[in-house]
Amino acid sequence: MHTNQVYSEPVTENNKSHKWWHRRWVKITGISVIVLIVVAVILALVLIFVVFAPKKSETIITVTTSSSSAPVTLTTTSPQTTAMTTTQQLEWSVTGNMNTARLLHTASILPNGKVLITGGTSNAYNFLNSAELYDPSTGIWASTGSVTNARDSHTASVLSNGNVLVTGGADDSGVLNSAELYDSPRGTWTTTGNMNNARGDHTASALSNGKILVTGGVGSSGIGLNSAELYDPITNTWTTTSNMNNARQYHTASVLSNGKVLVTGGLFITSYLNNAELYDPSTGTWTTTGNMTNARGGHTASVLSNGIVLVAGGYSNSGFLNSAELYDPSAGTWTTTTNMTNARGIHTVSVLSNGKVLVTGGRNYNALDSTELYDPSTGTWTTTSNMTNAREYHAASVLSNGKVLVTGGAGKTANLNSAELY
Ligand SMILES: *[C@@H]1O[C@H](CO)[C@@H](O)[C@H](O)[C@H]1NC(C)=O
Ligand SMILES: *[C@@H]1O[C@H](CO)[C@@H](O)[C@H](O)[C@H]1NC(C)=O
Ligand SMILES: *[C@@H]1O[C@H](CO)[C@@H](O)[C@H](O)[C@H]1NC(C)=O
Repeated sequence: MHTNQVYSEPVTENNKSHKWWHRRWVKITGISVIVLIVVAVILALVLIFVVFAPKKSETIITVTTSSSSAPVTLTTTSPQTTAMTTTQQLEWSVTGNMNTARLLHTASILPNGKVLITGGTSNAYNFLNSAELYDPSTGIWASTGSVTNARDSHTASVLSNGNVLVTGGADDSGVLNSAELYDSPRGTWTTTGNMNNARGDHTASALSNGKILVTGGVGSSGIGLNSAELYDPITNTWTTTSNMNNARQYHTASVLSNGKVLVTGGLFITSYLNNAELYDPSTGTWTTTGNMTNARGGHTASVLSNGIVLVAGGYSNSGFLNSAELYDPSAGTWTTTTNMTNARGIHTVSVLSNGKVLVTGGRNYNALDSTELYDPSTGTWTTTSNMTNAREYHAASVLSNGKVLVTGGAGKTANLNSAELY
């Protein structure tokens, strides 16, 4: 009985279908329905991949509208994967490797557009004295002499005459007070005047009067410094200027559009700081300004095109931070803005030519490969595709062609000589 039923059902249906399939009105309706379904599917795909695509990133718009691969994307079985892969290739690309793996190095854009890398810590955790130049037109690295004193956690500042001033940092003997000059057309190094204080993890800012302001950092006692000093490129000498109100290391310093320098947060002994202060180059004095909402060190600060300063991430006594805040120089106040997607410290930050801010990698108990973009016009973050390598203690430089060159750093398992472009 059971067998009979199963056997008889298809036969019955077959007979039925023969009857209605051959009627003309059924054929016309059927064909119309099929045509409608095909049109609806094409419309849906166009909506998903062209109209709603901007939500992910601008690069996807470029991919689907301007490349001939759009029809291919629509007909593949996994169009989403295809679009994602293409976007990643457009956002990050590898470029030549540095000659030496390094972290805690510096990267400076020279007047000719090349990028000067100095010092740092090697893959075997030795202090490096080597320097290399990246040529953006070829993507190739060339060595360019050496600093006299191997160092990491130092600073490098491009002077108005195009030379580069390297200051302080640390080597096997401890923190350094020495400074050196790179002659950028000749590619040679010379020592210049010593700072009054040895310091590492400090900041150096090029003022509009051509002098370089160095602030804080860890001193030879192992404790954060409140001292600040000025380098005069004409006399090659250092003079002390007023002390900051707070001693600090792992802080930030940003030159504002009014010429003042904003110093934020940092670490003093075991406390992360929420305070900020302003240096006025015309009077040589420091004044406190509003406190940040979060105490933080190892964070970043970026001057946006509207003059406002974006502070992001870092760490505090409670761990790595995803929070970000904005400083308004005209009001002297801080307001919080949207959180980053990832909490991170020791990351890099670059202001792009379109005004957006690119945050890359950094540390959250391990090196991160994630990157995200802050849009000042909406006050929101969007994640972008990951870098090829996770990196912390790396460097990022905005090239004159608008791309961002990310170099070296510590990866998840090894220190890196690789570099990539956004
Ligand atoms: C900033 O915070 C400190 C405590 O961390 C407090 O003593 C000081 O008064 C605050 N300053 C301002 C301007 O709110
Ligand atoms: C940002 O994240 C912190 C926790 O990490 C949370 O306390 C805070 O409310 C968040 N702020 C916003 C604006 O979402
Ligand atoms: C980036 O990599 C992390 C793992 O390291 C992963 O969780 C995340 O989904 C990736 N993000 C993107 C946009 O591919």
